[in-house]
Amino acid sequence: MEFKTIIEPFKIKVVESINVTTLKERQKFLQEAAYNPFQLSSSQVMIDFLTDSGTSAMSDKQWSGMMSGDESYAGSNSWMQMKNAIYNLTGHEFIYPIHQGRAGERILYSYLGKKGKIFISNTHFDTTRANIEFSGAEAIDIPIEEGKIPEFYHPFKGNIDVKKLEELILEKGASNIACVILTVTNNSGGGQPVSMENAKAVKTICKKYKIFYFLDCCRVAENAYFIKHREAGYENKTYLEIAQEMFSLTDGSIMSAKKDALVNMGGFLTLTNSDLAEACKNLLIITEGFSTYGGLSGRDMEAIAIGLKEVFEPDYLNYRIKSSAFLGERLKKLGVPLMWPIGGHAVYIDAKKMYSHIPVSEYPGQALVCELYLTGGIRSVEIGSVMFGKYDEGGNLIPAAMELVRLAIPRRVYTQSHIEYVIEVFEKLMENKGSVKGYKIIEEPQFLRHFTAKLIPVV
Ligand code: F0G
Repeated sequence: MEFKTIIEPFKIKVVESINVTTLKERQKFLQEAAYNPFQLSSSQVMIDFLTDSGTSAMSDKQWSGMMSGDESYAGSNSWMQMKNAIYNLTGHEFIYPIHQGRAGERILYSYLGKKGKIFISNTHFDTTRANIEFSGAEAIDIPIEEGKIPEFYHPFKGNIDVKKLEELILEKGASNIACVILTVTNNSGGGQPVSMENAKAVKTICKKYKIFYFLDCCRVAENAYFIKHREAGYENKTYLEIAQEMFSLTDGSIMSAKKDALVNMGGFLTLTNSDLAEACKNLLIITEGFSTYGGLSGRDMEAIAIGLKEVFEPDYLNYRIKSSAFLGERLKKLGVPLMWPIGGHAVYIDAKKMYSHIPVSEYPGQALVCELYLTGGIRSVEIGSVMFGKYDEGGNLIPAAMELVRLAIPRRVYTQSHIEYVIEVFEKLMENKGSVKGYKIIEEPQFLRHFTAKLIPVV
């Protein structure tokens, strides 16, 4: 029997209060934050959809595991627990702890990258690209064409374009390609999955040209859910088996455990090549910590070991993916223009379409982010021209390709009624959308302006 209501497959043992605010208070808070929700304090936020990274609620088992965290500098038992869980998942021989994803990126990609080297991915996440470019190398994204059209349905919109991959290798020369990185799920566009067929095709090409193949696997359990339910031949495999198969295709992986390991901090780097592993281990020890803790406390490693098992539980994944889809489907019914289909960890809204009367130079995405906060105390993030816009020589805005707003959903944190509340807030936003005004930037730093820019409403 199937029921419509998605029940959270957990009970609440510890609660964290939400500070319920009024419209008048939020107007004051937002003005004080210069209309930039990054500048709000979390106590001024009712529903925080800024990111799904490091915001998970840990289970009672993880919290009790933390009490037995072994804080030994070398050879900690908690590291053995974490290492065994990672070995069971990846099957990779060389395993290292790191304090978060970008630490692993810096170690591996700064070692492989230098001027003239090329990295290819379905889409490099921002920090991945930044670490690659910092080494002097170039990062090229080649998602499939279908992945670039917001409303177009494709079951594996996160796939890499394998035809382009081979063409690029031939054009640039295999010896100049540092590696291919498959990001699962593909964060850009809302956690769109990658199929096993696609992952296997990449393996064939990388093997043919002797190129390293790595997985950016921070949402690999969510990706496994989509494979089981959308790809023929995987119906009877467990989520863990699907993830294991994906790792078995690759030469290594980097995981930000802040996502699918259900913890607030941590990560790992795995490799199969002993020379590469030795080089990375040395860099790890110089910059992160000894190779049995890599910048993590023993208790954190204990929690990761447990989280990596819990995330593959069918009831958890079913709730996780269905509740993200539920939010997206209900918003779609209200006429909110979205990236489609809904991915694993977030819902992306096309603000340029929603507020088509606001010119891009007045930042429709920022207008939606501000409306969500004012109306419902919901914090989201603009992924549009505030984040990626540039100026030409005449000081005119060169807008981003899209004006999106991301609602990233923390794991095991919000209940169905919180989600119902968010939907109700959108109902109000849709009623009043014609009267919403744009924003103007009045102060901005040179880099990463979205974090600290100051704005005012256009009157
Ligand atoms: N790779 C992907 C696909 C990510 O989404 C992230 C982080 C990282 C690597 C870097 O990991 O933060 O542990 O250093 N994504 C977060 C987000 C920040 O909000 O999407 P990190």
